[in-house]
Amino acid sequence: MFDPALFKLPGMRRLTVILGLLAVVEGICIIIQAQFLSLAIVGLWHLQTLATIVQPMLIFAIAWTGRQLLVVFKNRLMYPIVEKTSGDMRRQVMQKLYRLGPSYVAKTGTGNVVTTALEGIDKVQTYLMLVVIKVIDMMVIPWVILIYIAWLRWREALFLLAIFPLIIVFMIILGYAAQAKADKQYVGYQRMSNHFVDTLRGLPTLKQLGLSKSYATNVYRVSEGYRKQTMAVIKVAMLSTFALDFFTTLSIAVVAVFLGFGLVNGTISLLPALVILVLSPDYFLPLRTFASDYHATLNGKNAFADVQKMLALPVPTHRDQLGTQPLDWQADSDLRLSQVNFSYDGEQPALSQLDLTAKGYQRIGIIGASGSGKSTLINLLGGFLTPEADQGSIKVNGQAVSHLNQTAWQQSFFYIPQNPYLFHATLAENIAFYQPEAGISAIGQAAAKAGLTDWIETLPDGLATQIGEGARGVSGGQAQRIALARAFLDSSRKILLFDEPTAHLDIETEAALKQTILPVFENHLVFFATHRLHWINQMDYVLVLDHGKIVEQGTPAELAAHNGAYVRLRDEMVGAI
Ligand SMILES: Nc1ncnc2c1ncn2[C@@H]1O[C@H](COP(=O)(O)OP(=O)(O)OP(=O)(O)O)[C@@H](O)[C@H]1O
Ligand SMILES: [Mg+2]
Repeated sequence: MFDPALFKLPGMRRLTVILGLLAVVEGICIIIQAQFLSLAIVGLWHLQTLATIVQPMLIFAIAWTGRQLLVVFKNRLMYPIVEKTSGDMRRQVMQKLYRLGPSYVAKTGTGNVVTTALEGIDKVQTYLMLVVIKVIDMMVIPWVILIYIAWLRWREALFLLAIFPLIIVFMIILGYAAQAKADKQYVGYQRMSNHFVDTLRGLPTLKQLGLSKSYATNVYRVSEGYRKQTMAVIKVAMLSTFALDFFTTLSIAVVAVFLGFGLVNGTISLLPALVILVLSPDYFLPLRTFASDYHATLNGKNAFADVQKMLALPVPTHRDQLGTQPLDWQADSDLRLSQVNFSYDGEQPALSQLDLTAKGYQRIGIIGASGSGKSTLINLLGGFLTPEADQGSIKVNGQAVSHLNQTAWQQSFFYIPQNPYLFHATLAENIAFYQPEAGISAIGQAAAKAGLTDWIETLPDGLATQIGEGARGVSGGQAQRIALARAFLDSSRKILLFDEPTAHLDIETEAALKQTILPVFENHLVFFATHRLHWINQMDYVLVLDHGKIVEQGTPAELAAHNGAYVRLRDEMVGAI
């Protein structure tokens, strides 16, 4: 009915004890309230003067007020803790995301990650707020009341005691039904998020193909599905609330009949009978409030489980095998991979038996047909993907490491993909991304080296112009130049990982950009995945990939000398031109 992990959250145990004690006090308030209300009524029944019932009514009023104040106080007590817990959770989720890295987001889908990290935690907050107090009330208050009733008359108490587990069993059965529906609803919700993000991202393509309208139908269908799932949950919720109310009312009626017989037979006097009758609804009340909110919290429960699951995922370990300081990559430094394997799904190898050595300031071209594994190799070299454990070896300057997701290694390279990501920030901040402390003149110089000066001069705010998502648009070539300016600004990173940086640019832009890129190669170890022949002429070593294997490697001259995969691929490229 609730997640036991809930009570393992920090601060929750202490809170549980306090709330438990307050629930006992609340139970006592309820008893006092019933006792003195009944006393007043019995007084009136026996036609006593009005003055004699003032005192019981006053005590009743005090107990009633006390009870309401307790409810307010408990919520007050709960709120800051819930606030803090969800704040901590949000922080933990973000930290976890950073530590899990890009491969997790790729696997789970951006929409899912956003749902979990943002809305999921809001739902958890509601869940905590609704569920904790009610669970504790439900576990304490009925027993306090029952003990008092038992002290008055054991037979009615026995009946109430017997009915309680029946209702619980009934609730559990309905709860399972609701849970199954709510699980479906949550999955539907995540699917909707993913669809929505996908549509937004693909909007230019959809528009261009004239498919945006039909895709809108698609989004409509998915959200309709979600609506139906939500209605199904609400239906079960309504049904179970109705059933529960019916059962508890019936039980109270049975108690009333018992008491009525008792009164007729003279085995019970009016006061205790009335007290028991007044207490009976309160005996069931915590159960009913819990049940009526239960369905509203199911989503929160799922979100909570989701967050817990994500927080429990193993993070990459052994990240400091090369220390925590950036590497000092020199002309005689080397990186050796031998017999390294990688697979996305744990079955089909995406890269197999990689043997490669990169030394000093080599420029290494990576070529191969589409889908041959170039990007996968670059991502492996960047440490964004982790090779199969216990297979092959990776050594950086002779030091064996389990993967390249090394703090020191990642502080030593630049990764320049096809579409470098630009953050929603100023142009200067985007350039100084790896070196936030860089001065504006250094940034200006780096921008000039990257060939951005002409463009910047046309901008109203120059380097202070906002770019990125939702701000000024940037062309593909400009984005690449900004990425290059980052490399010019920080000369301490000696390793460059390029993944087809010019693949989506037209020939003229590429030719202009190439003049900017070539000087960066100086004194850098370069890995350059490409489809374009003219880049290969700039490389002094080439890896030819085919179906995840390095089928040939050597200097371009060596590879050209014998008629193999390289020559075939080169001829294809020439043909394509
Ligand atoms: N995230 C992923 N999950 C599962 N399989 C993937 C994933 N990314 C790539 N693959 C598969 O791995 C293989 C290599 O893909 P990769 O992207 O490395 O090729 P590539 O050589 O970079 O191709 P291209 O020239 O088109 O960029 C392909 O068969 C691809 O389907
Ligand atoms: Mg690729």
